[in-house]
Amino acid sequence: MRPLALFALFMGCVPSRCCGSGTSKIDNLIVFGDSYSDEGRLEYFLSHNNTPPPPGLYIPEANVTKSGGKSWPQIAAKAIGATTFNYAVTGAVCTDFFPDVLPSVQEYEVPAFLADVAYKNPATGTNTLYTNRTSSNTVYTLWIGTNDLGVNAFLTDSQPAGKTLDDFIQCVWPTFDYIYSTGGRKFVLFTEIPLNYAPLYASLEHGGAGDVPRWPDKEAHNTTEYEQKMLEYVTLVNTVLEYGVPLQQSVKKRWPGASFSIFNVHDLISDIYHAPSDYLDAPANATGFYAECPNSIQVGSANCEVSPNPLSSFLWFDELHMSPKVHEYIASEFVNVLSQKSKYGIYY
Ligand SMILES: *[C@@H]1O[C@H](CO)[C@@H](O)[C@H](O)[C@H]1NC(C)=O
Ligand SMILES: *[C@@H]1O[C@H](CO)[C@@H](O)[C@H](O)[C@H]1NC(C)=O
Ligand SMILES: *[C@@H]1O[C@H](CO)[C@@H](O)[C@H](O)[C@H]1NC(C)=O
Ligand SMILES: *[C@@H]1O[C@H](CO)[C@@H](O)[C@H](O)[C@H]1NC(C)=O
Repeated sequence: MRPLALFALFMGCVPSRCCGSGTSKIDNLIVFGDSYSDEGRLEYFLSHNNTPPPPGLYIPEANVTKSGGKSWPQIAAKAIGATTFNYAVTGAVCTDFFPDVLPSVQEYEVPAFLADVAYKNPATGTNTLYTNRTSSNTVYTLWIGTNDLGVNAFLTDSQPAGKTLDDFIQCVWPTFDYIYSTGGRKFVLFTEIPLNYAPLYASLEHGGAGDVPRWPDKEAHNTTEYEQKMLEYVTLVNTVLEYGVPLQQSVKKRWPGASFSIFNVHDLISDIYHAPSDYLDAPANATGFYAECPNSIQVGSANCEVSPNPLSSFLWFDELHMSPKVHEYIASEFVNVLSQKSKYGIYY
């Protein structure tokens, strides 16, 4: 039995039967996070002189994202007949204590959502973006930490003096407070993926990338030690997140009446990594990456050096991002998490 399940039993509450119903029709999928979920918001900034989209503007789903193709939110939304409202921005961290970073969840994404909720179209006097958002037909997801834990952040000790991993984790819960205050009642928190397997962070001896634009002097470091450090960070953060949800939800009663699921995307990616040919087309490749690109901001593989093997045979599109094939698995397991049927889900 998982330690969490045991903990929940002591609380007198079996997680999967605890709160809310997981199966009502979902019309809106509202997404917060970083490049693992971004479907066009960073592109809006880049193509509009770094200005954010105005409140009330719908950003259509991009067909080419940092995965090199589609990303999980629109695949999942199509599967359940929902519309995505995507606030995720490539490069985002949870809160803004790293210098020169892109918009963060706490300082940009949540305020942008609140502004969209408050928006009234001057012509109609009504909210023309959110026309059908209720507590039962809308799910909110947060998947954040890849950039917080990575290069130029905690991994390379680039945080401001005195900032800790706990400061990162303590930024996660208030995000749900804000959503709750607008009537949100269905939450899904994604765990960190095994970043130590991502070519960017894997050691050279485990087939990791060498110097790349995202980490131009990686090889000047002992990559074994950094891979190990990443393993430490990911494991610790995921454990604290998994313990944190029942603590905030069941003990501190932080979000009364809300249902809260954890999507253990860590174990899904880990399973793909350890049995690639069960998931990927031949020749299945879980250690290398498909596209070697000249800069880290661009989407798609134009100007990149690409493998002659199909993208669908790779776990990794580039050294940090999972391929569209993997996003399909993420999307289908996410849908299973919504109906509380995924083995990668923990339900409260
Ligand atoms: C994405 O692709 C679909 C067809 O698969 C197309 O209808 C749609 O217009 C495309 N969206 C964008 C933003 O290019
Ligand atoms: C709003 O969502 C409900 C189900 O959650 C659906 O029955 C209804 O048709 C939707 N209304 C509109 C205007 O989309
Ligand atoms: C790199 O770090 C590992 C783990 O600490 C150590 O075993 C190894 O000797 C180091 N390699 C070099 C070249 O210093
Ligand atoms: C995986 O892909 C990389 C990059 O194309 C390649 O160098 C490596 O040999 C491949 N590994 C396997 C096991 O096919």
